[in-house]
Amino acid sequence: MKSLPSENRSATKESEGQAEGLTGDTIAIRGGRPLVGRVDVKGAKNLATKAMVAALLGESVSVLRDVPNISDVQVVRSLLEVHGVRVEDGDEPGSLVLDPSDAKSAHFEEIDAHAGSSRIPILFCGPLLHLLGQAFIPDLGGCRIGDRPINFHLDALRRFGAVVEKQPSGIRLSAPDGLHGANIELPYPSVGATEQVLLTAVRAKGTTELRNAAIEPEIMDLIGVLQKMGAIISYEPNRVIFIEGVDTLTGYDHRSIFDRNEAASWACAALATDGDIFVGGARQQDMLTFLNVFRKAGGAFDIEESGIRFYRGGPLKPVVVETDVHPGFMTDWQQPLIVALTQAHGTSVVHETVYENRFGFTDALVKMGADIVVHPDGLEGEYRRVPRRALEQAAVITGPTPLHGADIVVPDLRGGYSHVIAALAADGESVVRNVGIIRRGYENLFDKLQALGADFDVIG
Ligand code: EPU
Repeated sequence: MKSLPSENRSATKESEGQAEGLTGDTIAIRGGRPLVGRVDVKGAKNLATKAMVAALLGESVSVLRDVPNISDVQVVRSLLEVHGVRVEDGDEPGSLVLDPSDAKSAHFEEIDAHAGSSRIPILFCGPLLHLLGQAFIPDLGGCRIGDRPINFHLDALRRFGAVVEKQPSGIRLSAPDGLHGANIELPYPSVGATEQVLLTAVRAKGTTELRNAAIEPEIMDLIGVLQKMGAIISYEPNRVIFIEGVDTLTGYDHRSIFDRNEAASWACAALATDGDIFVGGARQQDMLTFLNVFRKAGGAFDIEESGIRFYRGGPLKPVVVETDVHPGFMTDWQQPLIVALTQAHGTSVVHETVYENRFGFTDALVKMGADIVVHPDGLEGEYRRVPRRALEQAAVITGPTPLHGADIVVPDLRGGYSHVIAALAADGESVVRNVGIIRRGYENLFDKLQALGADFDVIG
């Protein structure tokens, strides 16, 4: 295992956070070894970044704990800083202290420097409108997994009274008369749009009723953060959330919910490589749906107070699964699962119903010897089991097929992680390029792989 020259570090502000250990964009992996050992997962990318934005709404300092050192966090940190929020490391590793008392408008150039690097900036809209009466949001980034429009966000903001002006380099918003509570029904239980409504409604005048809301555990954790700040939020079991706006909010002290996506990723890595991985910090309650599918696919797990141990319970078995909003099987879990399913005895089907283009990563698996056929418009016939959905693709995976090493390029965060574990499961050497993308969501990936006994070199 070779270390890296410093110029190969990612161009983000990672080097300003806690030291990340090994970094690099290209790795050579010699596969065929099971991953064995322990990894610990920290706070969820998909909560920590949103809770950081929420700190803008408070009138005093917030402390967020278990923040993962990933590039999405660095992007949000940097955007908060250009808006005058002081962000410092806290008293325990992985904690951040966020002080919004000098929050201010940022210069266009400073905001624009973040264009294309993350989708989180869209969530700055509500807090900035409350704070400054205006907001400018740069062109959004995030993974290339379909169109990923923001129409639900903008429609909701207009209902709160915001004026939205699209410009070539981003979106300018203003709220000349302030923001008021609204009745909003989302066309789809979008995670981001639900967060947008929560972050805007908590300080809007009057009550907001949000119907068809997303109810992912990370959203419930964000509601917990906002309640600590003084917000009044209640919900009913049928995806309805009520928010009574308040005039002022304070800071919070909060430990983030663990990263379910990272935990599921390591579980699938154990399954794919015939390994044995204890994921410290993983909790059963937030992973019930994943654990059911994992077991049906031949996986075994032992639940302990401090985490979950994942391994194979016998030969791998085919499954039919569709991705869905919570409490369904998350779209972020299908990519590593599919790698394991290439080793199952029989035909598996994965229906993707959340994004319209999230099977691009399977091309690389096919190059490595997998038998995967993607149906861009979904499947008909015996394997179909979901009602027709607006966005639907299906991947049919027939196994077991031996995987062999290949030269592959990471397309997106979750697909990229699955490329790495495919290379670890394959015979021979693979070169995996563009792995820097994976650092958007996986803290200390290389160090964790090393701890699990992976045989790889960082080569570029
Ligand atoms: N959608 C619209 N219009 C909108 C918003 C969403 O059509 O205004 C569509 C999307 O195009 C997509 C579907 O609704 O087809 C679901 O999108 P959603 O808004 O729920 O997703 P998101 O908030 O953009 C978050 C996570 C994703 C995760 C999804 C689903 C963050 C930063 N991202 O995205 O995580 O897959 O929820 O759970 O929280 C990842 O971590 O790799 C990742 C992509």
